[in-house]
Amino acid sequence: MEPSQPQCPDRRAFLGGALIAGAAIAGPVVRAVAAVAPATGSDQIKVVVVGCGGRGTGAAMQALKADPGVVIWAMADAFGDRIDTAILELQKSSMVDRVQVPPERRFTGFDGVTKACASGVQVAILAAPPGLRPDHLRAAVDAGLHVFCEKPMFVDAAGAKRVIESARAARAKNLNLVSGFCWRRAAPERELFRRVADGQIGDVVAMHSDYLTTPLGVQMRRPEWTDMEFQLRNWQHMVWLSGDFIVEQAVHSIDKINWAFGNEPPERCTAVGGRSLREPIPERGDVYDYFAVVYEWPGDRRATLMWRQYPDSFNENVDTIIGTKGRAFVNGWAPVHRITGNANWIRSKSASRPNMYQVAQDELFRAIRTGERIDDSDWMVQSCRLALMARMAAYTGQAVTWKDVLESREDLMPATLAMDAPPPVPTIRQPGRTKLV
Ligand SMILES: NC(=O)c1ccc[n+]([C@@H]2O[C@H](COP(=O)([O-])OP(=O)(O)OC[C@H]3O[C@@H](n4cnc5c(N)ncnc54)[C@H](O)[C@@H]3O)[C@@H](O)[C@H]2O)c1
Repeated sequence: MEPSQPQCPDRRAFLGGALIAGAAIAGPVVRAVAAVAPATGSDQIKVVVVGCGGRGTGAAMQALKADPGVVIWAMADAFGDRIDTAILELQKSSMVDRVQVPPERRFTGFDGVTKACASGVQVAILAAPPGLRPDHLRAAVDAGLHVFCEKPMFVDAAGAKRVIESARAARAKNLNLVSGFCWRRAAPERELFRRVADGQIGDVVAMHSDYLTTPLGVQMRRPEWTDMEFQLRNWQHMVWLSGDFIVEQAVHSIDKINWAFGNEPPERCTAVGGRSLREPIPERGDVYDYFAVVYEWPGDRRATLMWRQYPDSFNENVDTIIGTKGRAFVNGWAPVHRITGNANWIRSKSASRPNMYQVAQDELFRAIRTGERIDDSDWMVQSCRLALMARMAAYTGQAVTWKDVLESREDLMPATLAMDAPPPVPTIRQPGRTKLV
């Protein structure tokens, strides 16, 4: 996390944040259902963490704070050393007695997830590389678990289809499905977007988002690693695992665009992107380092997004929403939230600002206890599809329609997922040559 940017959705700072008991903010979609019993014969709610890196460890800590009955019961990660590090981190907390993951409940490899979900848990935190998420979500829902599902939920059309099926199954089983689109649980953003939805700036006609940040680190190759392990250790930089950064990172801004436009799918998308400053080393995989995107809706409405990762450069994460009667401005990192025009509103910087990652866990466990059901699936799928749309447009150089997105058959998964199987060959896409799939 960049220190001057509070609550920036960055993967290096998820362990902080005070418990905000009973934050009075409505969840995105909450339906009342029969209360779900916690762990048999006790008040415990047992949790499995799938993907035990920065975000998985942070979400586990926030789950422990969210409910005194939460026990971290099992962990799954491709690599045992990541589980060990996560446990050491969690054991530093005052809730160490509720971190109960003996060696027999530490599951490694690609098939560890299914076993972990069947280890007697009620809740899954899914925070592995997103290319694997559709499989992990399927495993969790098949096992009847409530889910906290990090973003993005999929990185290609095949994954989208599977996630939609799992979301449907979760609904049929009355399971909570809470997404990791963290800005949706940030109090200032919730208030501003509610005001926009209430018509305080009139009809939304345009939006511009900037997401300017720095490159993520890499794990230099070690001789003992197979090619598959090398790619998994550098998953952010491999398109089949991360979806590229327009899907993995800029999707936060795209989600806010989707929020402002009320989940209405755009008609068309054009985009540019490329690799301008990435070092030419295998660790940097096949991802771009800049994208600029234009989404278009009927009635000459547009949203634009500029995203890039450059070292030693200016960083900012802001959104301007233009309506027929005013405009809204968001700078979540600053934090600045205001509306001007017919209605005028400025959110005080000193107003309560609960940690949005904590709020997500608070709301999930409260829903489990009370029998409400949170279902983020419709808009989380839509936001991820918007991100795929932008990547399709940037990679191919074509104007991509919503129909192209819905009819896409793109499937980035390798035929075999095994540590000794060959991973996809990194391929830098070229506009004009790369075809729509
Ligand atoms: N909402 C947010 O603000 C936010 C912030 C950071 C990250 N994230 C998301 O959280 C997810 C994890 O990101 P991170 O920063 O923690 O990455 P990370 O690299 O720190 O952790 C990912 C972990 O997944 C493990 N993994 C790899 N293959 C696996 C498999 N087959 N099964 C289980 N685990 C496997 C890795 O070994 C690693 O420990 C990503 O989807 C990322 O986009 C969200």
